Amino acid sequence: MCGIVAYVGPKDAAPILLEGLQRLEYRGYDSAGLAVVNGKSLKMRKVKGRVSDLAEAVPARFKGTCGIGHTRWATHGVPSDVNAHPHLDPEHRVAVVHNGIIENADALRQRLEAEGVTFESETDTEVLCHLIARAVKETDSLDDAVRRALKSIVGTYGIAVVDAQRPGEIVVARNGSPIVLGIGEKEMFAASDVAALVRYTRQVVHLEDGELAVLRADGFHTFTSDARETAKEPFTVDWDTGHYDNGGYEHYLLKEISEQPDTVARTLRGRIDDRFHIAHLGGLNMDARETRSFRRVKIIGCGSAYYSGQIGAQLIEELARIPADAEPASEFRYRNPVVEPDTLYVAISQSGETYDTLAAVQELKRKGGRVLGIVNTVGSAIARECDGGLYLHAGPEVSVASTKAFTSTAVSFALLALHLARVRDLSPADGRRICEGLRRLPEQIEQILKLDEQIKTLAEKYAHSPSMMFVGRVRGYPVAREGAQKLKEISYVHAEAYPASELKHGPLALINPDMPTVAIVPDDELLDKNLTTLGEIRARSGRILMIGHRAADAADDCVVVPKNETELDPILLTIPLQLFAYHAAVALGRDVDRPRNLAKSVTVE
Ligand code: AGP
Repeated sequence: MCGIVAYVGPKDAAPILLEGLQRLEYRGYDSAGLAVVNGKSLKMRKVKGRVSDLAEAVPARFKGTCGIGHTRWATHGVPSDVNAHPHLDPEHRVAVVHNGIIENADALRQRLEAEGVTFESETDTEVLCHLIARAVKETDSLDDAVRRALKSIVGTYGIAVVDAQRPGEIVVARNGSPIVLGIGEKEMFAASDVAALVRYTRQVVHLEDGELAVLRADGFHTFTSDARETAKEPFTVDWDTGHYDNGGYEHYLLKEISEQPDTVARTLRGRIDDRFHIAHLGGLNMDARETRSFRRVKIIGCGSAYYSGQIGAQLIEELARIPADAEPASEFRYRNPVVEPDTLYVAISQSGETYDTLAAVQELKRKGGRVLGIVNTVGSAIARECDGGLYLHAGPEVSVASTKAFTSTAVSFALLALHLARVRDLSPADGRRICEGLRRLPEQIEQILKLDEQIKTLAEKYAHSPSMMFVGRVRGYPVAREGAQKLKEISYVHAEAYPASELKHGPLALINPDMPTVAIVPDDELLDKNLTTLGEIRARSGRILMIGHRAADAADDCVVVPKNETELDPILLTIPLQLFAYHAAVALGRDVDRPRNLAKSVTVE
């Protein structure tokens, strides 16, 4: 889950690589480096730290019009100058950058060391560099050398390779980790994500697993792993650099939280049919008969995507009255699930590149499963792998902590649930109720964003707690899980989420004045039960911050949000928790957009 970028053309590569790496930094940010081919020699700089540190290390006269760059999320070897990428062979002829994990690196390293090769770094990638450097001497082309070296590799990769003896040429290859090519005017780009190249071109092609490409200034050729040329149809990405700017906000996270009235409106655009009170979902590739044929819905995703899937499962069960549940994709994949023909599988992913989810989708496809995708990134691997689905249209999500993609995913599930329900027994009246509720969401989110000052004050009050508990019942439980997730991942405050009813079966023992509880208390049929739980916490001197539709004496502090339809309320109840985590992280001086140890798109297992 590193970020790689490559450029070949008439311009100096270094500034283009540095800007591309800056835009890819959300993929990994513990070290960075780049290499350019100048004449018949390689120039390389790499440092522990951020892309900005690398920029300082790259002298202005770093000439060369063909180069590769990398920003790292360490898997093998600590973040350090020597473990940073690119890796070069001892003769400094070949340079390699890699995103992914080489699973048989240790065995290959031992074999190469036994043959007298000395290693500089602890990385798996250096193994590949030595294999390619050896092959370039025995083959006629760089792509043949890369192909030959990759034959010994087991694992995932997105790589870019240059050879000082072949200036003006870059070879990239993909297996499991994303590579997108950017087609420019007499110049070519490659990157892990379009973010690094949309400034220069919006004409792109995605490499598929097992594909390799040769880039030169005048164009590109793509090949399969057995050297058969493949044809590629470029498509135009609809995001431009503006989408990747932070819009003048202090942090991308605050920008993306504040964008939600628009992003939810974009997710809904053209998808509500007020005549028949149904959802209009053109991308499902299923007719009504097939839509009716499913007896169960199984949702898979990772992290926050999985939690939004839990909200989705409840919406589908409540509205369409078919059994539905959500499961972490990696667990689902490795428990060898029974794949049923009358089960509809739904894969969720903001980036569309999360390896655990992609591999679970590929497993489902191998077993004949019918898989829909709810994805934000257009043209991403998971979107390409699914049989149909919905794009969120939420725009690029740059901050590592997911917010607008979470709410747009939950809204997409409300649309899918409405679709599944209206081809079954949901009445037009109930359909209308849900359609109108969905249309009220953007304006109600605006109202919640106006509570920012109040939530900021509360976050500063609670941020220094050593630990926090998040509780909710049924519809409130996935909201509590997402709230705890957000606080953990950006403020590093330990937080646990529990079904409120479970507290008395154990976790209540944790409750004390130093462990405040955030309670999700919607105005629904479980209100009284939730208030009883608050009483139990209070009786043990626990402090309570309640998120609900009306204030309650049992709580120390209350954030009151507007009421929508009960089924849709979880979408609104999540937003105060996003702001709470944001302000807690700011109060604790955290790097809000680049939280430690994390990365935006987890392209390794
Ligand atoms: C959420 O804030 C995290 N960034 C993480 O849990 C994320 O949701 C997970 O890695 C899944 O990512 P995806 O939606 O891009 O597949």
